Amino acid sequence: MKIGILNGGGDCAGLNAVSRGVLRAAEAAGDTVIGIRRGWAGLLEGEYGEIRYADFEGLIGTGGTALETSRTNPMKRQNGLDAVAENMRNMGLDVLIAVGGDDTLGVARELSARGEKVIGVPKTIDNDLAGTDFSFGFFTAVDEAMRMIESLQTTGLSHSRIMVVEVMGRDAGWISLYAGTAAGANMILIPEFSASPEDAVKLVKARKDAGHRSTVIVVAEGVNLVPRDKVEKDEFGHELIAKAPGENNAAYLARYIEERSGLETRSTVLGHTIRGTRPNAYDRVMSTRLGVKAVDAAHGGRFGVMVAIRGASVSEVPLSEGTKKKYVDEETWRIFRQFFV
Ligand code: F6P
Repeated sequence: MKIGILNGGGDCAGLNAVSRGVLRAAEAAGDTVIGIRRGWAGLLEGEYGEIRYADFEGLIGTGGTALETSRTNPMKRQNGLDAVAENMRNMGLDVLIAVGGDDTLGVARELSARGEKVIGVPKTIDNDLAGTDFSFGFFTAVDEAMRMIESLQTTGLSHSRIMVVEVMGRDAGWISLYAGTAAGANMILIPEFSASPEDAVKLVKARKDAGHRSTVIVVAEGVNLVPRDKVEKDEFGHELIAKAPGENNAAYLARYIEERSGLETRSTVLGHTIRGTRPNAYDRVMSTRLGVKAVDAAHGGRFGVMVAIRGASVSEVPLSEGTKKKYVDEETWRIFRQFFV
């Protein structure tokens, strides 16, 4: 069998471990694997070559992606999907494994609907894909953000300051909620539930009155605190928040709190730092299992599926289900917001 693999969208910890898993399973079955560079761009522009397990053997613990990635959307090019399908045929691919988030897998879903043999692997630090309990890269990003929030806690205590920290998460607040909760942050603002700067002011004042020297507040980048009408969008129509002109959420909220509470406040934006880090053990193991499962699905002739983490197992769901979005739900929010004190 000739298997193609590509990585699309933002990078995340565990991408090389998925490729490594695919390569090991494929080579054990006597398959050839073609690595496509820079996501859908590589399929459109013919940038690919054979890859081997030996190339990826030592990469299980590395961040980033050796295959490279892009936010190229073939559906934004004239006859883009036709070109992708034609190149897949010219390359002699029996199946394409697309590793990506809702954008990349959305393209995979369209190709599959046209009869192309495609299998998806869900990838996003944002953890906002409905078909999988967790997406690889998420817990690594959470671990990293948690450690940095803890650092901000100690410096905040040393200086008796309010610390505001902004964490990635475009539409969903999962990273902020999990990292903030794990670090014991005092308040977390996420896009799914109304986030009021005034509530933040009330909390820091109440904590000051109760004798606390410092307060740590986490805000997700996707919360709408500052006008974002001039923000550039990517080819899938998503706002590139990291490129937004003017003040970011953390700086805005820090200024708002300091002006109204009179308490010295500092802001930090974690940005891409939590995405580029080395995968933790969970993500290394799960990425490996997802890669192996994708090859298993290919051999079983089960195309149009996304491999997915369900509980402690790795299973398969239709691509159409896998690409639906997953937001923080009421019950999860109710549990964690009790700790906003
Ligand atoms: O991949 C998801 C994500 O990390 C979002 O959390 C963030 O808004 C976006 O990507 C950043 O994209 P870019 O790397 O293109 O700035």
